[in-house]
Amino acid sequence: MIYDHGNMVSFQGLKRGMSTGEIPMSSDGCGEGLYEMDKEQQTFFQKVSDDYGDFIKARASKEELRRRIEPRMGGRVLDIGNGGIRDFFSPMTQQYIGLDFSLSMLRKGNQGVEKVCGDALALPFKKEIFDTLFYRSMLHHLARKKVNETEVRVKQALVEGYHLLEEKGNIMVVEPCISQGLEKIERVCYFLIKIFCRIIHQPEVLLFSAKRLRKMLKDSGYGQISEESIPPRGGNRWHLVSPVIGLPRLKVPFGLLPVRQVVVEAKKHD
Ligand SMILES: C[S@@+](CC[C@H](N)C(=O)[O-])C[C@H]1O[C@@H](n2cnc3c(N)ncnc32)[C@H](O)[C@@H]1O
Repeated sequence: MIYDHGNMVSFQGLKRGMSTGEIPMSSDGCGEGLYEMDKEQQTFFQKVSDDYGDFIKARASKEELRRRIEPRMGGRVLDIGNGGIRDFFSPMTQQYIGLDFSLSMLRKGNQGVEKVCGDALALPFKKEIFDTLFYRSMLHHLARKKVNETEVRVKQALVEGYHLLEEKGNIMVVEPCISQGLEKIERVCYFLIKIFCRIIHQPEVLLFSAKRLRKMLKDSGYGQISEESIPPRGGNRWHLVSPVIGLPRLKVPFGLLPVRQVVVEAKKHD
């Protein structure tokens, strides 16, 4: 399903048989029965889509991220788990496609994105047509009940993307990363995270260390992997941010959170 501000639009890069208007649509999300969807995540993002714009207003490091991301964005960009949001405008970019499995998120987002409703684990595009793949604050939402199942899903998503990249293409992953030490504790205490998420009616999330992200990219076939930490907005560690989507009113000084924004970039080949 391609959806662009209420209108169906056509896009040559869609897989054969997947064209506009043909795919049955549920009330939120796309292609019911067509892709393996995570209904709980979809329903959650449907619920938060009204407030998501406000949630990300206070987000740290937008300018710093732009400086790093925009020069590395290629001609045709696929933003996976896009949420209808476009924050990056590189003069090199000719086409910016945002894919998300929540129609509500796509509908409530902003302009300048060609919106495609689909699943990150079964991308509905032809092979080798994108110059840049972009995943921002998305991979940790692929969490499952078990840590190793989550990693399998993340790698599955990254391999899906790999097939769509041009030979010289690059991938950029922006994630809130934790230290390796904290990651060990998180994995042991994952059951507590799941309980907390249940209490606040949010599906579980699993944060990764930058090292883990690099490893998952390597295991998924990517090469030339590099990482960069993004400093907080204007270098101000006391800038208030919302750390949990399910609790949008909770604001915490960025410097007190045990996470850092990291951009991990890789190329299709070494
Ligand atoms: C935290 S939001 C990030 C949105 C946007 N990338 C940003 O940085 O603001 C995560 C997004 O990923 C989407 N998402 C989660 N799992 C997905 C999947 N399997 N396929 C497609 N989109 C997914 C959600 O619907 C949601 O819009």
